[in-house]
Amino acid sequence: MKVGVLGLGSYIPEKVVTNHDLEKFLDTSDEWIRTRTGIVERRIANENEATSDLASIAAKRALEDANLKPEDIDLIIVGTNSPDMLYPATACLVQEKIGASGKCAAFDLQAGCPGFIYATVVGSQFVKSGAYKHVLVIGAEVITRMMDPTDRGTYVLFGDGAGAVVLGEVEDNRGIVDFELYADGSIAEHLTLPAGGSRKPFSEEVLKERSYFTKMNGGEVFKFSVREISRISKKLLDKTGTKLEDIDWFIPHQANLRIIQAGAEKLGIPMEKVVVTIDKFGNSSAASIPVSLDTIRKEGKLKRGDLVLMVSFGAGMTSGAILMRW
Ligand SMILES: CC(C)(COP(=O)(O)OP(=O)(O)OC[C@H]1O[C@@H](n2cnc3c(N)ncnc32)[C@H](O)[C@@H]1OP(=O)(O)O)[C@@H](O)C(=O)NCCC(=O)NCCS
Repeated sequence: MKVGVLGLGSYIPEKVVTNHDLEKFLDTSDEWIRTRTGIVERRIANENEATSDLASIAAKRALEDANLKPEDIDLIIVGTNSPDMLYPATACLVQEKIGASGKCAAFDLQAGCPGFIYATVVGSQFVKSGAYKHVLVIGAEVITRMMDPTDRGTYVLFGDGAGAVVLGEVEDNRGIVDFELYADGSIAEHLTLPAGGSRKPFSEEVLKERSYFTKMNGGEVFKFSVREISRISKKLLDKTGTKLEDIDWFIPHQANLRIIQAGAEKLGIPMEKVVVTIDKFGNSSAASIPVSLDTIRKEGKLKRGDLVLMVSFGAGMTSGAILMRW
């Protein structure tokens, strides 16, 4: 059985924050951010919006696109690094918001920025095994709240958003061809949000050292990302006997335009086939891949039968790739 996307939807908050807006309170410049990251502006959630709010809107759009009702869903998986709270799972809050409470299973999956890739692979196994018919997979973040507004090294990079797919059985040789998932916990220290969990619960010390915000070793994350883009993509292409020229769209995680360009070059894929949305949305973590997918579909570029390679990397350090015929 082939498992693929029956419906796709996304939601990006309305509030646009430009690099010039950041110049007002950070020692940074539009020129630095553009040249070092490719980001021009990002979207930031309103004060009253949390991850489940963004996720629910994207989910409703995906359901509508699939022509399905909330009660048709058997499982909801939310891939996120910025849940509404430590528990309950954001997926349970989404279940209530979309009108599916008590009708299906729901859980979160935390795998860094590849959260959507991991969740899609996990969700697709339930469909493939015959256990479930329809799985709603969401990549959603209000990740900007996890960033220190006084830290120019991280704050300028991120944006908020959500993207969702309904997975189910598909025909005509469409759907997921294969995947690769990977993690290396020995280098987890390079990208962390240290406080708020059981290791370092909230305290005055946490407040003072601002460890309730993300800490990142940008250079190390950069190197890992470029290496992983080409390494796991090549592994997946080899495994499936796919030639690079057969790929119609390459959708890398949108973390930094220089990472995307270096990764694409290392892999040998021309930039015309590479989807870039980071200029408008920044790094929306687990939302970046489904949002990018929906962006090219809305632009009319994504055609049925296109071969799409999606690759992501992030905290863990994790990486993941999916090859899918649209
Ligand atoms: C963070 C990142 C953009 C920094 O770019 P870089 O070219 O490596 O820059 P460096 O870290 O070498 O810093 C160069 C200088 O710019 C400064 N700088 C950092 N952020 C800045 C900002 N927003 N504005 C202006 N200057 C900044 C640094 O302090 C440093 O100054 P110094 O030389 O006086 O110490 C880059 O390392 C990166 O994108 N890493 C990956 C991050 C990522 O993708 N994270 C999420 C993964 S899911």
